Amino acid sequence: MSLEKVARDVRDNAYAPYSNFRVGAAIRGASGAVYAGCNVENVAYPEGTCAEAGAIAAMIAAGETRLTEVYVVADSPHPVTPCGGCRQKLAEFGTGDVVVTLATLEGMTEAMTLAELLPGAFGQHHLGTGHG
Ligand code: THU
Repeated sequence: MSLEKVARDVRDNAYAPYSNFRVGAAIRGASGAVYAGCNVENVAYPEGTCAEAGAIAAMIAAGETRLTEVYVVADSPHPVTPCGGCRQKLAEFGTGDVVVTLATLEGMTEAMTLAELLPGAFGQHHLGTGHG
């Protein structure tokens, strides 16, 4: 299934009455299944959630915990990059070599890896043993 089509289609359902900036995200899980998410804003602005977070939630709800590919699209002049929080969220479930395709509605794309998006990421290895 095309990540681009899934991301573009789910973007149509984004709830973004405050920013008017609708975003669609599609994630391929290790099984090959594809999960979709869109941004969901809220009148209490900080309660809004990003498209990537929605797609991750759908993947986890389906019982998958590893992602292999990500696609994000928005109607922006430049390919939209995940916010800092979403970079950390994506890194939780994917290795550094996972490709994240950033896209505009007009068809401009840019590919970056998770490692490029979040260099020096805080990871499970930082926790070490004996935490808690
Ligand atoms: N947004 C996303 O959903 N994903 C991104 O990668 C960038 C930003 C959303 C959050 C908010 O609803 C709107 O775009 C404007 O920031």
